[in-house]
Amino acid sequence: MKQKISELIKSDAALTEAALGKYLSIGDPRIPVIFDAMRYSVLNGGKRVRPFLAIEFCRLAGGRAEDVLPFACGLEFIHSYSLVHDDLPCMDNDDLRRGKPTTHKQFGYANALLAGDALLTYAFETAVSGDNPAGQKAEAVASLSRNAGAMGMCGGQQIDLYAETHKIDFDELRYLHSLKTGALISCSCELGCIAAGLEKEHPLRRAALEYAAAVGVTFQIIDDILDVVSDEKTLGKPIGSDAEQGKTTYLSFMTIDEARSRARELTDKAVAAIKPFDKSEALCDFAEYLCARDR
Ligand code: IPE
Ligand code: IPE
Ligand code: MG
Ligand code: MG
Ligand code: MG
Repeated sequence: MKQKISELIKSDAALTEAALGKYLSIGDPRIPVIFDAMRYSVLNGGKRVRPFLAIEFCRLAGGRAEDVLPFACGLEFIHSYSLVHDDLPCMDNDDLRRGKPTTHKQFGYANALLAGDALLTYAFETAVSGDNPAGQKAEAVASLSRNAGAMGMCGGQQIDLYAETHKIDFDELRYLHSLKTGALISCSCELGCIAAGLEKEHPLRRAALEYAAAVGVTFQIIDDILDVVSDEKTLGKPIGSDAEQGKTTYLSFMTIDEARSRARELTDKAVAAIKPFDKSEALCDFAEYLCARDR
């Protein structure tokens, strides 16, 4: 990985960690478990890919990191909740996440369900807690709910479950990816543009969505490949989980090499979408990093 991008990833992650920690320093001594389970599910070494995209698109569009942090943290709460529920026995039934026992292993099924619910709702409270103008907050909340819901991540998760027991074709798999993973990635890029005050029709905002669509699918292709070729220690989650659960993935349709070249083509597309914009180098390098990542 290029030196410069690795440093930027670290420094954006540090900004994110500090903000997540601040937002999660809440509690009520009469109901400690839910707050503990929420912190456990979020403050556990995630890569913070989505906040990175939000912060860097905000900067690219002329805004400051602190303008987008409430939106980015709200989104990371939604992402973390999606993982808590994704790991439940009724979903992927996984015991390890980010190198630690999954939330339901640590706190029990019902508490994991509730911590996920609480993170989802706290996401919206967090998103509107900053100093952004009211119009920006409204737009951010609309983007978060659209991309997290039935026409976004949840819808994608449902097709993913359906495809465990039904044959789906390649176009349907692409649709699945664009929703289950692509939607929250699109949302990250969009939130960055919103926090910088870009109008919907601004060319950079359209380019951001094109970039996001390509990067989002690449992200899930690589996730599917890593589930086969990586190891538990590097990944922090079990490998072979997809095969065990009977998942339909890119590798149900092609070899690992073919899937890698799809990811390569999509990465080129992502880079081409934003390269014309001044100072887009960090996000171009980040697309390359996501394509080459090993965790
Ligand atoms: C994992 O997301 C789930 C997918 C959408 C593939 P990440 O790989 O971003 O997980 P963390 O946040 O770094 O743990
Ligand atoms: C889940 O995809 C994406 C979500 C919406 C949570 P996976 O089921 O492939 O994610 P991992 O591999 O468990 O992280
Ligand atoms: Mg899953
Ligand atoms: Mg899973
Ligand atoms: Mg996976």
